[in-house]
Amino acid sequence: MAEALAGVFVTGTGTEVGKTIVAAAIARTLAAEGLAVNVFKPAVTGLEDPGESDHELLRRAAGSAQGDKEIAPYRYEPPASPHLAAAMAGEEIEPERLLAAARAAGAGADRLVCEGVGGLLVPLASRVVGGMRQEVDSPYLVRDLAVALGLPLVVAASPGLGTINHTLLTIEAARAAGLEVRAVVLTPWPEEPSAVERSNRETIAALGEVEVKALPLLDLADPETWPALAS
Ligand SMILES: Nc1ncnc2c1ncn2[C@@H]1O[C@H](COP(=O)(O)OP(=O)(O)OP(=O)(O)O)[C@@H](O)[C@H]1O
Ligand SMILES: [Mg+2]
Repeated sequence: MAEALAGVFVTGTGTEVGKTIVAAAIARTLAAEGLAVNVFKPAVTGLEDPGESDHELLRRAAGSAQGDKEIAPYRYEPPASPHLAAAMAGEEIEPERLLAAARAAGAGADRLVCEGVGGLLVPLASRVVGGMRQEVDSPYLVRDLAVALGLPLVVAASPGLGTINHTLLTIEAARAAGLEVRAVVLTPWPEEPSAVERSNRETIAALGEVEVKALPLLDLADPETWPALAS
């Protein structure tokens, strides 16, 4: 059996909720402690959009020397879900290749910080078991990858209205698969949180029986100014 990976898997309640920011803050914190940190993202889509892409920000935050392919084995131009972006490129994401790449990234450092894609139930591929492809109605999910890697989860979520339901659903889906939920991180946490935001934080902690952290707005250009975010 492969040696257990040390690190964390950052998921979120959905798309554009702050997964990359939270993963970057964790990676930066570990690196500042003197640990060698590698990062991983199973698939990056939307490369056609301008600006720094997820794997580039993660690499910068971690101070990692990994190449693009080592961080993200599947990279696509269109901003589409990974299985669709792969199909548009005439290929399919292979779970075995993802696992091998993630384990290689983890083996090359003290800690691996992995960012998921979308939320936990996003399909990556049709499931492949023992080399046999099963029906497409049994997809390989982001959650399956987190389970296979055996990493604890950190859940990125918005502080505002709607977050209680989204976050508790994500926690339930994680625990149903036996995943450990290390923490929820509300991001970006305002300097002066409203009554709703403060209540959301307390309610998620109480009902989700989970630690809920808050990450303030970061200056993405300057990781040295970021507060520590322990994983
Ligand atoms: N603490 C924060 N400081 C600065 N910006 C933040 C913070 N939290 C969230 N954001 C902003 O919110 C947006 C979404 O964040 P991010 O890219 O991390 O989401 P994501 O969940 O990784 O998205 P995707 O599903 O596309 O991977 C970005 O524009 C990001 O800069
Ligand atoms: Mg992201």
